[in-house]
Amino acid sequence: MDLCIEAKTSLQGRVKVPGDKSISHRSIMLGSIAEGKTEIEGFLHGEDCLSTVQAFRDLGVEIEGVNTDKITVHGVGLNGLKEPENVLDVGNSGTSMRLMLGMLAGQSFYSVITGDESLRSRPMARVIDPVTEMNGKFYGRDNNNLAPVSVIGGQDLEPISYQSPVASAQVKSSVLLAGLYADGLTEVVEPAKSRDHTERMLEYLGAEVEVDGLTVRVKGKPTLQGKSILVPGDISSAAFIMVAGLIVEQGEIVIENVGLNPTRSGVIEAVKKMNGNIELLNKRQLNGEPVADIKISSSQLQGTTIDGELIPLLIDEIPVLAVAATQAEGKTVIKDAEELRVKETDRIDAMVKELRRIGVEVEEREDGMVIEGKQEITGGVTCSSYKDHRIAMALAIAGLVAKEPVTINDADCIDVSFPNFKDLLTSL
Ligand code: S3P
Repeated sequence: MDLCIEAKTSLQGRVKVPGDKSISHRSIMLGSIAEGKTEIEGFLHGEDCLSTVQAFRDLGVEIEGVNTDKITVHGVGLNGLKEPENVLDVGNSGTSMRLMLGMLAGQSFYSVITGDESLRSRPMARVIDPVTEMNGKFYGRDNNNLAPVSVIGGQDLEPISYQSPVASAQVKSSVLLAGLYADGLTEVVEPAKSRDHTERMLEYLGAEVEVDGLTVRVKGKPTLQGKSILVPGDISSAAFIMVAGLIVEQGEIVIENVGLNPTRSGVIEAVKKMNGNIELLNKRQLNGEPVADIKISSSQLQGTTIDGELIPLLIDEIPVLAVAATQAEGKTVIKDAEELRVKETDRIDAMVKELRRIGVEVEEREDGMVIEGKQEITGGVTCSSYKDHRIAMALAIAGLVAKEPVTINDADCIDVSFPNFKDLLTSL
């Protein structure tokens, strides 16, 4: 499907964005290995999370009401998963594959996991290596780096203390989930804080978790207890709507019920640094996760530097922040973001190429990009989404302030994380 976006001067209204992708995945995974029922409200019905649902069904878990507002996972307990009859296919979802590799290593059975073309080219050694140190056993392509990966269960996992070279929640979570199957304390130390939804949900369901700065420890062999989980709106999806409201002439948007976990809310800080008009209303807690309504209005943005420890806190929002930067006064420098090169596509390369295509001058750097502000977006062209949902949506937002319409090829990838993106934008 192609998506064509025309410029708009006014975007106004109150909206709710779909549920948080990271929390939705974890609710299925942890609900599956908990005892008893986990009832999930606000689940993201995006393709990635539905891949996780299918994978856990294939592992013998009964999951009901998937197309409704309330999903019920009938947990099978820590050791109740069953050998899948076929290859587990998690599509485009890196979170499913990396977290599941850790969990599958601790099972008594054999399994094979694969994904789509993009996922089959993304590095898995970053989780396979530490879990192998725990005595996990894997066979993957490219010297144990690429899917499909076979997981040879039946190993006795041992706890480790792992110093992760990268601030990645997927790496941290994979080791912690393998640690559930090891006797004793498994520890992960990160170079900078990455999203902590796994730690929060493990604790919420009854595991012993200790967090000490950049160190997280989990005690193996817990009994997790199924509970009800309310999934807040995804701040990564809200970010597209926020930037839209900031850059159009008359923007006034309230996005209700957005998760504001401090390990995810870097985009709020970045918008404030850019002088954006943003207010957080109705702050509250939802099963261990902070939530608020975000009010955004048109702003004369200022260029800024986005780097260092802020990067893992807004890693998925960088493509759309690059679009915001084109409309700001002065230069924006994005650095220390080399992780973008191993996302669903190389997001530095994709954004640089497509921004240039719509008329923006941008300097590519190995670890980011530099964008001069106040640039006219000419548009009038067809862009590639690189089959990456966040690239497609970032370019759509750029189209809102382009002189001529912007068309985005292969835009159905948006369904991965924000299935009602087009309707929601239209409603504004
Ligand atoms: C995610 C972690 C991040 C993020 C991804 C979701 C998660 O990836 O980019 O969209 O749910 O754990 P990395 O762990 O590779 O940084």
